Amino acid sequence: MEAKRNILITGGAGFIGSHVVRLFVNNYPEYTIFNLDALTYAGNLENLRDVQDKPNYRFLKADITNAEELDKLFATHGFDGVVHLAAESHVDRSIHGPTQFALTNVIGTVNLLNAARNYWAHNAAPTGVERRFYHVSTDEVYGSLGDEGLFTEETPYDPRSPYSASKAASDHFVRAFYHTYKMPVVLSNCSNNYGSFHFPEKLIPLAINNIKHNFKIPVYGKGENVRDWLFVEDHARAIDVIFHKGKDGETYNIGGHNEWKNIDLIYLLCKIMDSKLNRPEGTSVKLIEFVKDRAGHDLRYAIDSSKLQNELGWVPSLQFEEGLEKTVEWYLTNEEWLHHVTSGDYLKYYETQYHQR
Ligand code: NAD
Ligand code: DAU
Repeated sequence: MEAKRNILITGGAGFIGSHVVRLFVNNYPEYTIFNLDALTYAGNLENLRDVQDKPNYRFLKADITNAEELDKLFATHGFDGVVHLAAESHVDRSIHGPTQFALTNVIGTVNLLNAARNYWAHNAAPTGVERRFYHVSTDEVYGSLGDEGLFTEETPYDPRSPYSASKAASDHFVRAFYHTYKMPVVLSNCSNNYGSFHFPEKLIPLAINNIKHNFKIPVYGKGENVRDWLFVEDHARAIDVIFHKGKDGETYNIGGHNEWKNIDLIYLLCKIMDSKLNRPEGTSVKLIEFVKDRAGHDLRYAIDSSKLQNELGWVPSLQFEEGLEKTVEWYLTNEEWLHHVTSGDYLKYYETQYHQR
């Protein structure tokens, strides 16, 4: 049995955050899990319908760019652990509007660090509890690989999009708080996630949604870019392991050893969709449309996660083909969710079905 703890998870209404909240609420009934989220376009409380009534779950609608509000929440709830996922997360949006990425990802992270530091400096930790600030980051901070090599924890930072620049800056602040103020921090940098509750602006859910409606599948450039895909529930498990067993000041890379060229991934997805929708094989590939490339498009990401595997014993659980099939099935049986998040109807759900506690 773990000690009683008050854990703050930010961005818990988003894609990865909702899986982390679910795992912590279900695995640690002795913890109280506070999900702090501003409910931007990417945050949706329907993602947490199955845990919203559990006695160890609380939702806090708040914005990490509001420093005063964070101070008040620390004073009220006495958080002793933080898992920080709230962020602007979409590269294309960062290209169109970098400022919001600097505000949320950089200033928001600094606000959260300040709030934790101030509260922890003036209030002793409960008996038996070790405080921890866990910052969830991305492999994109390392830049772009050529045909060879993997990102390790020692790879120098070389962010190339406004999104990755903002995440890199936030990582630097977290490490600066460790060195300067001895804050008990831990970080992880993960590769591309896929799975349920993924907002349909990102490649995999966007392609599933488009194929279903017989819309074109936009593939940037020639589809030669490579991403290393990890099932989101494996990422959530890694976060659990690192939060509980990782060492202060350390960084852990998380990845699936699962590299796919975008175009090959789309071919596989088309095949699965044809089969699930009972369409003749070869129907969905006709929807592929090569479009103008993303500006500054990073060629390849690939993660070496051997530190996490060797030191903390985490391993990915699912083969990609199996995970992708599960994901497609989830989207096809959760049409209501897809409709809500693409139409904004989830806000009505929030107002009518769920009240802030
Ligand atoms: P997401 O966009 O699905 O969710 C982000 C969540 O943060 C949303 O619920 C949103 O409402 C909330 N949020 C945004 N701005 C906020 C603010 N100012 N205050 C409070 N809440 C706010 O993102 P995701 O894909 O789940 O990513 C979560 C984290 O994991 C991010 O930090 C991201 O950089 C990182 N990450 C993502 C991936 C990936 O493949 N998606 C991979 C590695 C790391
Ligand atoms: O590597 C981790 C990162 O993965 C996370 O930090 C980000 O938050 C997350 O959004 C993701 O970034 P990507 O840019 O890799 O993901 P996205 O789904 O936007 O794109 C995946 C690849 O597919 C990329 O090479 C761009 C391409 N793409 C994307 C879209 C949306 C297309 O070809 N067409 C599309 O319509």
